[in-house]
Amino acid sequence: MSSLTEKAEAPRRPKITAPKVRARKGGDKLRMVTAYDHPSAVIADKAGADIILVGDSVANVMLGHDDTLAMTVDAMIHHIAAVARANPAALVVGDMPWLSYHKSAEETVLNAGRFVQEGGAEAVKVEGGAKRVEMVTAILDAEIPVMGHIGLTPQSVNQMGGYRVQGRNVAPAYELISDAKALAEAGVFSIVLEGIPDALAEVITKEVAVPTIGIGAGAATDGQVLVFHDLLGLHNGHLPKFVRQYARLADDAVAAMERFFADVQSGAFPGPEESYTMDKESAAMLRDLADGGYAGLAADDLMADEAMER
Ligand code: KIV
Repeated sequence: MSSLTEKAEAPRRPKITAPKVRARKGGDKLRMVTAYDHPSAVIADKAGADIILVGDSVANVMLGHDDTLAMTVDAMIHHIAAVARANPAALVVGDMPWLSYHKSAEETVLNAGRFVQEGGAEAVKVEGGAKRVEMVTAILDAEIPVMGHIGLTPQSVNQMGGYRVQGRNVAPAYELISDAKALAEAGVFSIVLEGIPDALAEVITKEVAVPTIGIGAGAATDGQVLVFHDLLGLHNGHLPKFVRQYARLADDAVAAMERFFADVQSGAFPGPEESYTMDKESAAMLRDLADGGYAGLAADDLMADEAMER
């Protein structure tokens, strides 16, 4: 098998940290993308991502679940560690799964700490606004940077009654503004705004001192995030309105694999360039031996033969 342990590009870009992200408020737009494994992290980092989010969307995107609720802390750490091993210049943010930050401050800090110690995350993300401030504060007290996430929060799918745009009326919009302010005051270094009207995202972006990163929240935010597989067209499933596909890699992959299978059928693969060789004399001797049977072979020749098979 070929080696997949490619590390992030050298010479390295300067490492992105949570304070550097925080300092980008109103400056260069932040570029964030999800990644769930080593090769996708290398691709994201080579493309210049500021932030790689190991999102719990791994559940839908890679593991075949209908929603994100199946993810556990252990399962997330498995993916975070694969991303962190790519040693990206981008900040690695681990998405805390449902129920990992809902029970007690103590358990929340232990789970966030495992993301850092076992996974190599450099920050964590939690969904929810004012009602999560207690847990956000506990994580921050443990010296772990926190990214907020409000609006259409996928872990609330059952309570929202589906994946619905949030804050379309003044009262819920006002509540989301209060949520964003509460998170910013608690000390998060950035806030994801998902699935809200562009006008509301613009107001929130003006009202809070930390960068906002939009997904389905219009163009006024301080940065944008998309899911790796959505933007690269790595699947042909449902795509939300806010996704722009920059490639159709799933179609390209099927076409490439069809060519491989056709070459296997026709005998065009493997060719000499994909085959190992031995010197002509040994090959001729081997063929002669095979034609005449192996009966006359000396023990030493047999040993050599076995070694060759390995
Ligand atoms: O899990 C995820 O991919 C996310 C992004 C959509 C922000 O939370």
